[in-house]
Amino acid sequence: MKIKLRIGIIGAGSVVREIYQHLYFRSSYSPMLEICAVADPNEQFRNWFGDLAGIPAERRFTDYQEMIAKVKLDAVQVNTPDHLHCAPTVAALNAGLDVVVPKPTAATLKDAHLMIETAKKTGRYLGVDFHKREDPRIKEAEARFQSGRYGTFQAAVFYMVDKLNIADPNHSPRFFASPNFAEKNTPASFLTVHMADALMKIINLVPVQVSARGYSHKLPSLKPIAVNGYDLVDTEVLFDTGAVAHLITGWAIPNSAWANTVQSGRLICSDGLIDLALDMPGLREIHADGIFEVNPLFKNFEKDKSVTGYGISGPGRLYQQILAQHNGQMSATDRAGLMTPMILGFHTALVLEAAEKSLAAGQRLTTGATLGTVVDLRQLVANELGDIAAKEYGYA
Ligand SMILES: NC(=O)c1ccc[n+]([C@@H]2O[C@H](COP(=O)([O-])OP(=O)(O)OC[C@H]3O[C@@H](n4cnc5c(N)ncnc54)[C@H](O)[C@@H]3O)[C@@H](O)[C@H]2O)c1
Repeated sequence: MKIKLRIGIIGAGSVVREIYQHLYFRSSYSPMLEICAVADPNEQFRNWFGDLAGIPAERRFTDYQEMIAKVKLDAVQVNTPDHLHCAPTVAALNAGLDVVVPKPTAATLKDAHLMIETAKKTGRYLGVDFHKREDPRIKEAEARFQSGRYGTFQAAVFYMVDKLNIADPNHSPRFFASPNFAEKNTPASFLTVHMADALMKIINLVPVQVSARGYSHKLPSLKPIAVNGYDLVDTEVLFDTGAVAHLITGWAIPNSAWANTVQSGRLICSDGLIDLALDMPGLREIHADGIFEVNPLFKNFEKDKSVTGYGISGPGRLYQQILAQHNGQMSATDRAGLMTPMILGFHTALVLEAAEKSLAAGQRLTTGATLGTVVDLRQLVANELGDIAAKEYGYA
């Protein structure tokens, strides 16, 4: 029986610094992970990670293809920017490896579809780390909602707004490895996907229409490097039952905010509602710099130097599933349950692409607001993937 997985890391930027280094080296999942190799064209990040993991020079690569060809691995984790999830994932799956990617599955529907199809074709494992799925509050909300105690879901407002220093390229040290991350990505791609996935996990409904509004005031005013991007995006999602959600996300609130991410959610149903005070996990501190909400549920630095929390157990569970599949402990039914479009983040990628398309085709006002168009998701799936795939995903 296999007890360790040989892992290659593709991309070692800020998500590895903020989350995955703890998973790999200081968590209860670390004993099953042997971090064997790294591929990242950025020398600084490649060597920072290589040194941290004790990876010898001959297993540090600029090109992931070379890593996959030269090193004996069981799985890779693809930590590259969203638009670069697909190619390494497909290459690894085709090479017989299992793959873990951070959310979102991909930046486009086409990419997400190709990744899902390749996992199905090769029989290998694909897992997407939406860590909010492991947040005990989201899990409890899901169980309670699905027990029927609140009746029929009607409307929701979720919001998730980051401090400006996350997106500000003038902030030192810079949060993202790539200097133009906040310009290439949007609050929709970085944040809305978390809330879309968490909400859909709770209500288990299929989205059918999206329209978005974007607000661009703070980011273009930054100095000396201005960012041509949105401060805030409101994504309106209509579900097949007629229920509606507003997912409001941004990354321009002042750095004095009480948490890195100010976030919350309210779901209103025919017979009750749920409030998710996600940024008030119960530990508030006051010190010389101000008042802060601390979230030990996400990352908890234990006395024995290990790190726990749903930021770690989210991806950790994916590796447990890989190990189970390797050891023949995953039944066909279990595997089928992990290969649904919802679990593989298809619907979230769909909401994301629709929000981006809505804004791109929208009307930009002189006030800095952009009023996006209405995007029909059935049409979008059919246009992007064709009628056969649309039927497969239930959009025909
Ligand atoms: N930063 C976070 O806290 C966070 C949280 C959850 C999920 N994510 C997701 O993680 C992914 C990575 O985001 P990030 O914040 O780490 O971005 P980042 O820009 O900080 O890092 C990306 C890294 O990928 C490397 N890279 C680029 N092209 C590559 C290639 N072809 N092969 C190998 N490496 C390559 C870059 O050099 C860089 O080191 C994104 O999908 C993002 O949405 C990030």
